[in-house]
Amino acid sequence: MSGIEENSVPGKSDTTLQVRHLHIDFSQGFPRHWLGNDAFRSQLFNAQSFSFPLGEQYFIDSVRAALPLLTDEKLKADVKGFIGQESTHRHIHEQYNQQLNAQGLSYFIGPFVAWRIRTAAGLSVKNNLAITMAYEHFTAIFADGVLSDAKWVDDAIEPMKRLWTWHSIEETEHKSVVFDVYQALGGGYWRRVAWLLYVTMLFSLDTLVQTTHCLYRDGELFKAKTLWQGLKFYFGRRGLLWFSLPHYLAYFKPGFQPWEHDNLHLTRQWLQEHSEAYREIGKRVGT
Ligand SMILES: [Fe+2]
Ligand SMILES: [Fe+2]
Repeated sequence: MSGIEENSVPGKSDTTLQVRHLHIDFSQGFPRHWLGNDAFRSQLFNAQSFSFPLGEQYFIDSVRAALPLLTDEKLKADVKGFIGQESTHRHIHEQYNQQLNAQGLSYFIGPFVAWRIRTAAGLSVKNNLAITMAYEHFTAIFADGVLSDAKWVDDAIEPMKRLWTWHSIEETEHKSVVFDVYQALGGGYWRRVAWLLYVTMLFSLDTLVQTTHCLYRDGELFKAKTLWQGLKFYFGRRGLLWFSLPHYLAYFKPGFQPWEHDNLHLTRQWLQEHSEAYREIGKRVGT
């Protein structure tokens, strides 16, 4: 599959992934437009949340299947850290999604996504890793938008701001793990970019349909204000599209490596200033 030499720079090989238990209380619920009182952004983020329990389980299964094939002890530890972090994300987002269900929203595209995941079980370990790696690239870009100057959740209310910041921090911390596993198994360039194109199509379609469904159930779909909010968030001065495009396109470079965009510093300040927000599980040395 590989005709082009991939970059084997090990990136953040000196760091160890920390699993954290997030202190969060959904018992009081949260308002429907928890993100800046903006229906579009709130439902766009809600649509992502709906996808995590199924999607992140698929990511876990993809790397777990690769685990017996790995020989590098550091990489095996990274995979275990990745599984631990994604497992806690799934768990918290299940609680979040229960609140969304109580608000009258539902995971409309869930059966279609579940069918796709069942179908992917017939693919090779390397293909499932390439699909997961593409989703992780999207997640890493989204996380960077949350943590960086774009500050997509700065006007969110608590506990949602805490939840999305924590998730974005851990997505940033583990953004190269699946890539490193794929490289270690000899995954090549063409398989990597071909699955990115496939995932781009599905991710865009899923996001559009699920966000539209949430807005419809929310009674905000057919409003000019909602359309304006969407246009502003995607195409505004610091819009999602302009922010994401260079990061997205970087994946097509033959020597792409997730840590070539080194944004780990964005995670440290919040972790230091909000140590009361989480508990480190089985504290490991080296973080
Ligand atoms: Fe996650
Ligand atoms: Fe992830």
